Amino acid sequence: MLKLRHQVSLQSHNSLAIDELAEHWVTVDTVAELQAALALAAQNDWPVTLLGGGSNLLLCGPVPGLVIGLALRGRRLLQRSNAEALIEAEAGENWHQLVNWTLDLGLAGLENLSLIPGTVGAAPVQNIGAYGVELEQCLDSLDAFDRAEGRVVSLQAAECQFAYRDSLFKRSPGRYVILRVRMRLWPQAVAPLHIDYAPLARAWRATGLTRPDARVVSELVCQIRRSRLPDPAVLPNAGSFFHNPIVSASQAQRLLEQYPAMAHYPQADGRVKLAAGWLIDQAGWKGYRAGPVGVHAEQALVLVNHGGAKGRDILHLASQIQADIRQRYGLTLHIEPQQVGTAQP
Ligand code: EPU
Repeated sequence: MLKLRHQVSLQSHNSLAIDELAEHWVTVDTVAELQAALALAAQNDWPVTLLGGGSNLLLCGPVPGLVIGLALRGRRLLQRSNAEALIEAEAGENWHQLVNWTLDLGLAGLENLSLIPGTVGAAPVQNIGAYGVELEQCLDSLDAFDRAEGRVVSLQAAECQFAYRDSLFKRSPGRYVILRVRMRLWPQAVAPLHIDYAPLARAWRATGLTRPDARVVSELVCQIRRSRLPDPAVLPNAGSFFHNPIVSASQAQRLLEQYPAMAHYPQADGRVKLAAGWLIDQAGWKGYRAGPVGVHAEQALVLVNHGGAKGRDILHLASQIQADIRQRYGLTLHIEPQQVGTAQP
């Protein structure tokens, strides 16, 4: 039985803590409830917005129609051998709790993705990545409700069109509702650990340990994140607000001639990923504050809500930064969080 509510504040459902109303709201715990909620929206001609943890969301105004909070829970070990393991988790599980559960099982693979806010179901949408690892490296397959076909489909990782902060689910917005995700992990003893990312490599060396240990890597990642990224519960934010731009080798070369210290990461396809945080920081925005919004003092890629900000305040600051970066470096920064709601003048 669906518990439909009306004019519900979304403030506690988005990590930027923006206070906007959902016209109608329902939480779904099962696939059957999800189907009932989608049918109800179709009968009433309500647009549908799907919400996981709300950690990559920018509310630009009230949200018309039905907002569906995805709360499917459960996680299980499907297979385990001396060489590998397969786990499955439902979309509404908390991502970081899942990472800890796999580490408790002695399984490695997700440790670099520790402490990323949000839910399991949201992870494939933007192919979450941190400290040298992206979800696609562990993702085996997932089940999703395909709204175009009206049925549950299983997709292998290769079908999900993963790229940097991108996937099939971003390219076909609204079509798929991710229900559960399966990940291929490794028993700790045979795990290929990734400790090359410079700050992580430094922290690892400082431990003096010689044998890689996924639990220690997880703890180091948590320490690094806590030192640079604000806790949304204390200072509301949506993590990185812009994508890191990926440019041609020749454009990167031109910029490096002008800015030899510029952070840059050559990609497998020959292009070069630049650090938007470095560019914004060099442009002098770090720690900037304008009324209720600002740029985080430790990480220029993170915009924060100091209290009472609306989506338009955040977007105004974002567009000032985008214009400055365009003018200084000739680069376009793309906003990362999904923008939802009817923009208010
Ligand atoms: N930098 C600065 N000043 C800043 C911020 C960064 O000079 O204010 C420099 C750093 O010193 C470093 C480089 O820029 O040389 C990259 O910085 P960092 O390692 O902090 O990573 P990032 O590129 O800013 C990305 C992800 C993060 C992820 C980290 C670690 C994106 C958009 N963001 O940030 O993901 O945690 O790498 O892997 O790709 C998120 O998506 O919400 C997120 C936090």
